[in-house]
Amino acid sequence: MTLKRRESLIVLGSTAFIASLPPAARALSFESKDKLKIGTKSQIDRFGIISFSYPGPTHPAQAVKLHDGRIVAYSLLCTHMGCPVSYDAETERYVCPCHQSAYAAWNDATVVQGPAPRPLPNILLEEDQDGNIFAVGISAPVFGSSTTIQQIDEIYAKESKL
Ligand code: FES
Repeated sequence: MTLKRRESLIVLGSTAFIASLPPAARALSFESKDKLKIGTKSQIDRFGIISFSYPGPTHPAQAVKLHDGRIVAYSLLCTHMGCPVSYDAETERYVCPCHQSAYAAWNDATVVQGPAPRPLPNILLEEDQDGNIFAVGISAPVFGSSTTIQQIDEIYAKESKL
């Protein structure tokens, strides 16, 4: 059984996650046509992390349970040049091995160290009554998607004006 997004986010303890996205980011979210099951609540409670591919099969992504109990999910493709980033559970940061960019997992994957120009795309999650977790949308195109860098920059420029 499927819950509405807001109900699901409350179940996930992620109301702060959706609330912390800038209004324009929510409005411009790229909704997926289909939900993708990425795992279960008990799985992430036990292991703290679920790896999956989203929005396409060649786009690595990850959901993590933060120290404060929130569950967040991001694309793992660095916004600088697309290298896959790694999660450091102790500092709750994603770190890129190519040019050492770092992103704050606890703060919508904002950049805490460059040269990355923008946050990792945030993946929106839902949980159903059976404890299944689904990816249902993403806040921005992932690096290397068919959307051009110029289009991504236009999206972020619009957000900053709202
Ligand atoms: S590709 Fe990640 S910092 Fe350059």
